[in-house]
Amino acid sequence: MTFQNSNPIAGASPATAPAQPGLIVELQSILAPLDLAEVFPQSRPLEVELGCGDASFLVDYARLRRDRNFIGVERLLGRIRKLDRKGRRAGLDNLRGVRIESSYFLRYLLPSNAAAALHIYFPDPWPKRRHLKNRLVNERFPEIARRALAPGGVVYLRTDDRNYFEQMITVFTAGSAFHPVDTPPELGGLPTDFEADFQRHGVQTLRAAYQLQQPA
Ligand SMILES: C[S@@+](CC[C@H](N)C(=O)[O-])C[C@H]1O[C@@H](n2cnc3c(N)ncnc32)[C@H](O)[C@@H]1O
Repeated sequence: MTFQNSNPIAGASPATAPAQPGLIVELQSILAPLDLAEVFPQSRPLEVELGCGDASFLVDYARLRRDRNFIGVERLLGRIRKLDRKGRRAGLDNLRGVRIESSYFLRYLLPSNAAAALHIYFPDPWPKRRHLKNRLVNERFPEIARRALAPGGVVYLRTDDRNYFEQMITVFTAGSAFHPVDTPPELGGLPTDFEADFQRHGVQTLRAAYQLQQPA
């Protein structure tokens, strides 16, 4: 596993300041789970944002929680490059980006029970009936999340789409593995890029969080 892009930080002289390594994980294999000890310089609880967009939320949160490691998963190259640029500018050693499809990442690349939290903010709503099957948070998702999360791990959800929100609640209340919890204020107070845009336009957004049961 290597990291892309070792451009020097803008303005720094390579003779006096070593280039900060890029934050985009360049996958050597899409068949083997990530070696998290190789991805991060320090072992800390891991949180993952699926569909992280321009990573503005993740960069703010990683700056606030230096005691945690963060991975942003995003399929668009331009957006994952923004994670890289913003994260390096902020000097974050606890943030990485992976350019890949979210559910594939969760199922095959994230080691089992590795995540303390999954953040899913404003996933594509796929409102047309024939496209509903493309939604990330569907009836199979809680089982996929259960495998990815450590005991007591939490899934945080936000959307502007009421129908999708109802689907999220339905799938997480269907089984007994998860129970609803509050979002901590330090997390709830950080808007994502899309959320900030909705707020500017007066569009209501919806939130929920579900915690995986701790073993008895
Ligand atoms: C509506 S945006 C929200 C971005 C960010 N979470 C926010 O709230 O500002 C959805 C993001 O998810 C990404 N995305 C959509 N489907 C994806 C998938 N299957 N795998 C990875 N990323 C995906 C899109 O490229 C886009 O950046």
